[in-house]
Amino acid sequence: MENAYAPYSKFRVGAALLTTTGVLVTGCNVENASYGVTNCAERTAIFSAVARLGPRMKVEAIAVVNDHNAPCSPCGACRQVIYEFGPTAMVLFRGVKGWKTIPIEKLLPEGFRLK
Ligand code: THU
Repeated sequence: MENAYAPYSKFRVGAALLTTTGVLVTGCNVENASYGVTNCAERTAIFSAVARLGPRMKVEAIAVVNDHNAPCSPCGACRQVIYEFGPTAMVLFRGVKGWKTIPIEKLLPEGFRLK
């Protein structure tokens, strides 16, 4: 979260993922003047984990925080990416009524798979 690049929204987000092999990898949001190409903290963490550990890396759990301590559940694009690398992953985030731990299958029912 401290490393976030968020000059436009001023909403700094951090994500920490735990792989099924016990490795911790972090990520932050990286914004862009062309707003739509912004990368969320969750996807940064997952892409960093693939770059560091290889394409067979699997996510056991991923937690998300932000510097406003505001509700912040992963966006739809991030849910699909979490599902790709952790179809049974647990997702931890601040909901409207406090902290939540919800399996990705529940956040993204019938997520898309090619195989
Ligand atoms: N953001 C994340 O990084 N993760 C989330 O779960 C929600 C939103 C970022 C994207 C953008 O840089 C900023 O928060 C405001 O939407």
